[in-house]
Amino acid sequence: MNNRIVTLDEFIIRRQNEIPFASGELTGLLRDIGVAAKIVNREVNKAGLLNILGAAGSENVTGDKVQKLDLYANEKLIECLCNSGECAGIASEENEEFIPIQPMDGKDSKYVVVMDPLDGSSNIDVNVSVGTIFGIYRRLSDPSETCTQKDFLQKGTQLVAAGYVLYGTSTILVYTTGCGVNGFTLDPTIGEFCLSHQNIKIPKRGNYYSVNQGYYLKFDVEMRRYIDHCSDENYGLRYIGTMVSDVHRILFQGGIFLYPNTRKYPQGKLRLLYECNPLAFIMEQAGGKAINCSLERILEIEPTELHQRVTIAVGSPDMVDEMKAFVEKYAKVTVPA
Ligand code: AHG
Ligand code: MN
Ligand code: MN
Repeated sequence: MNNRIVTLDEFIIRRQNEIPFASGELTGLLRDIGVAAKIVNREVNKAGLLNILGAAGSENVTGDKVQKLDLYANEKLIECLCNSGECAGIASEENEEFIPIQPMDGKDSKYVVVMDPLDGSSNIDVNVSVGTIFGIYRRLSDPSETCTQKDFLQKGTQLVAAGYVLYGTSTILVYTTGCGVNGFTLDPTIGEFCLSHQNIKIPKRGNYYSVNQGYYLKFDVEMRRYIDHCSDENYGLRYIGTMVSDVHRILFQGGIFLYPNTRKYPQGKLRLLYECNPLAFIMEQAGGKAINCSLERILEIEPTELHQRVTIAVGSPDMVDEMKAFVEKYAKVTVPA
């Protein structure tokens, strides 16, 4: 058996020819995201030491301001992408507007990045796993000019790559360029992401459903009926409150993740660009499905604004189909042809 370790950088370069029109830029960009992930990982691992190092907002021993971790992650990712030379702009969950990046040394950059720098913010202070989610689009605007909002408002079907990093019991980076999904676990002893999960496929069904059951009474009737069904079927309920962690478990073990509309969030809570599209792309690449509560395929939703929210049901294909059947039965929605 061949036990040779394959690092993320090596893997990305080997797979370069699978990416349409790739000429090395996307490879470089993915590599830079890998570097940023290592930096964020280092800081996430230190988060438990905050009481010793100083709480967010205070100054640490070296006199630096201690930042909230989500803002730190945002800053580090932006820094790495700005220095990459391959990225024309960034739209981040943490920034109201997109950030255009000026070309380096007159070199045109073909890609823009959308990201949720730290997903699961309510879990940061209590040592529960959080993650980074990203998506990469080819820009639509002229590469010699500053990028525009149109570059970011592309449907998920236009994603050229998407991935996430989960800072969990171990740190894992999972990504796709549209030719399957692969996972790389960070070996902290050598500081490298090493190929650990090749060509990930989601089970057709699973034994878990993942939803904030506390909002049950705020969900529409069809959602409540479907959740009752999950409970009748004896599926286990798992809900971390970090979407990327919940979706990661489902990717490996099968199941369904739901974030329907509530009274507080009539459009759903999660963001189309930063969370739902990248994770939907990965799920579909692994054989899963992702739709909203109006039964539209997530990846086909036309974005109209950067911070647009969307409802979502994502996971094992047979379970998403089942959820769809409940919606068709109990709701008065016009089902897309
Ligand atoms: P973020 O931390 O990036 O703002 O995302 C929060 C998310 C998501 O990760 C999670 O699934 C969801 O919010 C949890 O929301 P509820 O607490 O309403 O269940
Ligand atoms: Mn998030
Ligand atoms: Mn976030």
